[in-house]
Amino acid sequence: MPLCLVANWKLNGSKEFNSQWALEFLSNFKGNNFSSLGIAPASLYIDHLKSVFADYDVMIGCQNIDFQETGARTGEISASMIKDLGCEFSIIGHSERRILFHETNQMICQKLIQADRNSLVPILCVGESIEENQNNTTFKVLKHQIIEALEGADELSSLVIAYEPVWAIGSGKTPNPDEINSVHEMIKDVVQSHFPKIGLKSVLYGGSVNFTNASSLFEQQNIDGALIGGASLDGKEFALIANVFNELRV
Ligand code: PGA
Repeated sequence: MPLCLVANWKLNGSKEFNSQWALEFLSNFKGNNFSSLGIAPASLYIDHLKSVFADYDVMIGCQNIDFQETGARTGEISASMIKDLGCEFSIIGHSERRILFHETNQMICQKLIQADRNSLVPILCVGESIEENQNNTTFKVLKHQIIEALEGADELSSLVIAYEPVWAIGSGKTPNPDEINSVHEMIKDVVQSHFPKIGLKSVLYGGSVNFTNASSLFEQQNIDGALIGGASLDGKEFALIANVFNELRV
């Protein structure tokens, strides 16, 4: 099963947090499909989190990688270093990276290539702003982001795309589930028609996913899972969301 539910912890966490989170998660999760679940802690805590989950094959990944392999790039972390720590995936091109750290589609393309070269599954994030949504340009904007990011990376052996409307992240607002479903259908069509050699594994939705709205999302055929920020900081809530996913989809 591909990655279905991914926790994006952003700039949160500590060793104590990792241990407590695992206890809460493990005492509430009813399934055994650990390998379809991913956690992306701050990179500094990957090693510790790996040891906390040593008995479970939960996928551990990172929130970002550099677009180069080595060099004079103070503060950066490469895909090969992340792989060296035993990670399986990397989130790439999250809107916070695009907006706060000025990542372009061209840089994102290089990061996708780095991830693929190091056998990390890239989770490419795309999403429209509130203005773009209100102007009914969502499809156009997403298509542009996907084509620019994948143009130089058209033979990725595996890829997950996360549709994350910028205005839905951390806001408590989401598009209607059926709107998300049609966006996901469009994303699958764009990748299949423009990049037939790419192994697209799944299209996740991200932006204010929580236990309350999880079932309305996972009922939709083209929503293959979720990338979860705020609600994933609570080990119990992440487990409850995973239980909902398993009831509806597994
Ligand atoms: P949120 O964040 O679930 O807190 O909206 C999602 C994300 O940014 O990946």
